[in-house]
Parts: sequence; C-alpha cells; structure tokens
Amino acid sequence: MTHPAAAPHDSVRAVEWRGDHLCLLDQRRLPHEEAFIECRDSDEVARAIADLAVRGAPAIGIAAAWGMVLAARNGEDLAAASARLRGARPTAVNLMWALDRMRGVAADAAALEREAQAIQDEDLAANRRMGELGAALIGPGSGVLTHCNTGSLATAGYGTALGVIRAGVSAGRITRVFAGETRPWLQGARLTMWELQRDAIAATLVADSAAAHLMRSGAVQWVVVGADRIAANGDTANKIGTSQLAIVARHYGVRFMVVAPASTIDMAMPAGDGIEIELRAADELLAFGGQRTAVAGAEAWNPVFDVTPATLIDALVTERGVVERPDTGRMAALFVAP
Ligand code: MRU
Repeated sequence: MTHPAAAPHDSVRAVEWRGDHLCLLDQRRLPHEEAFIECRDSDEVARAIADLAVRGAPAIGIAAAWGMVLAARNGEDLAAASARLRGARPTAVNLMWALDRMRGVAADAAALEREAQAIQDEDLAANRRMGELGAALIGPGSGVLTHCNTGSLATAGYGTALGVIRAGVSAGRITRVFAGETRPWLQGARLTMWELQRDAIAATLVADSAAAHLMRSGAVQWVVVGADRIAANGDTANKIGTSQLAIVARHYGVRFMVVAPASTIDMAMPAGDGIEIELRAADELLAFGGQRTAVAGAEAWNPVFDVTPATLIDALVTERGVVERPDTGRMAALFVAP
C-alpha cells in the first residue's frame, strides 16, 4: 500500500480498513514480496498478530481494534474475541490499551468502527508530533543508529523512532542513518532498510554486533529506538538488543532516545521488572528461511524483548512532550492526571 501524497519521506501503509475487511501488508514476506492478507474475522486478525504478519506495538493495537470491528460485524462473542486478540502477544501494551479503549465503546459495529479509525488517526498524528519533538533534540549534521523497525510498517504511518529520523533527515539534522539488522527476525535488515529505501532515505545496515565499534568510531551521536511498553519509572521494554545498545551508548558518550506514544506507557506497571517478555519459538533462532543454521539437536533461548533501565535513557519523546532522564516523578508529571 503506497501513499505518495502522505508526507515527504512517508509513503508506506501496512494496516488499512477496506470497509468490510482488514488489509494487512504481510511483513513476513518483505522485502522480497509485497503480499497482502485479508482478515474477515477477529481470529484471522489474532493469528496475523501472533505470526508477525503485522507487528510493531502501535500497529498491533490498531489491527486489534479493527479485529473488534470485524467481531461486531460478524456477530461474534465480543468478550471472547477481545480475549483472543489480547492473548496474541504479551509485551506491547498498545494491544491491551487499544482493546480496553474498544471495550469502552457501545458494542455496535458503527461505533466500534469510528473508535478504531480514531485510534489509527491519532497514532499518525502522534507520530508526526513526536517526529518534530525528537528531531529538535538532534544537532545538525548528526549520525543516528536505530534498532528493529519502528516506521510506517509498525504504526499507522510515519513511525516513532523512524518518524524522528524522517523528520531529522528532512530538516538536515540527520545526515547518516545506521540500522541494526535485529537478529533473529531481521526487522532492521528486512523492514527498516526496505522502508527507508522506499522513502529515499539513505541508510547503512550494520550487524547488531557492530554497534559498539560503530559508536566508538564517532559516526553516531544518538541511538533512537521505539518501545513496546514503558513502565511508570521510565524503564523501557523494546526489541531484544535494545538494552545493550543503551549500555554501549552510555559508555561512549552517545545519547539515547526512546520515542513512543502515550499508548505505549503503562503507568500501572511500576518498573520494568514486572513486564512480561515474550519468548518465541527456538526455530526462529535455529533456522533461517526454512534452512537450518544451527547444528541438529542444538537448543536455543529466544526472548524477543528486553528492558532498558530508565537511568540509561537521555530522552523519552512522546506526543505529549519530552521527558528528559525519565524517572517516576518526571513520568508522573506528564502521564498522571492532576
Ligand atoms: O516483535 P516486533 O517486531 O513487533 O517488535 C517491534 C519493536 O520492538 C518496536 O521497536 C516497537 O514495537 C516499537 S514500533 C513503533
């Protein structure tokens, strides 16, 4: 799905409501193939989320909201549909947030459709705002390193960390973009590089294991990442590998920015220790593209998120504003109603 008129450097859309079904760009098949999945009931949406056909915290929340619209249109049991969607993935709180928001709406399909569209539209607007706020923190001529895919593919459009990169490139603040390949599912190599090439943003792929060497070289001034769940003290769960980037960044004096909408902030979770970290099948690590890469009989441990302590975060950028050096007090100032 390509939207040339959306905004400069922003042409990709991965989640689209088509009036009677949900159309998803199948992210398992990128970059080689642009294939689409049509979901016509809430089970198909739950499966697409669990299997990573649609992924990225805001995008799975949006997809789940449309899943509830399909459930209502089909006369499904709404509580059961909501429970199945909620169980599709455990770490990104946007999924639970979107379903809670849908539960607060009258159970007729038209009202649910309006709410799902509002969730999607608000996400795009939040991303544009975060792009401006985040890019303003970055000095002209900077290099940045990002991790995973946080772009239009992972959101309603524009992206969180990739939104900051889009805005920073447009403003001439960012002149070098490095993307970590993001083993084992390769969101960086397969998705971020595809998305940036699509939008004519030059980027250089690096192995995840090259990050320390890259930061030591002085080529990057900021690491810019997204989030799946941010606790009330600012601890941040994001794609596996993020916390080691934050540790290395602090060591080399590179600044570390987390970019996420308010829907990713879980004020009911006091600290990162309580965040459930999704464990996925060992096969994702033991094989690639159907080809076994590890010796037969090898075992593997495949946690797909980790927690970066708030103390390693220089700036948390949200659509409500920037929290510098987040802690419980600074988070509460922005995210607890007076
Ligand atoms: O397993 P994924 O691909 O869903 O993980 C995605 C991430 O970790 C992203 O960094 C996060 O969801 C933010 S996307 C704007």
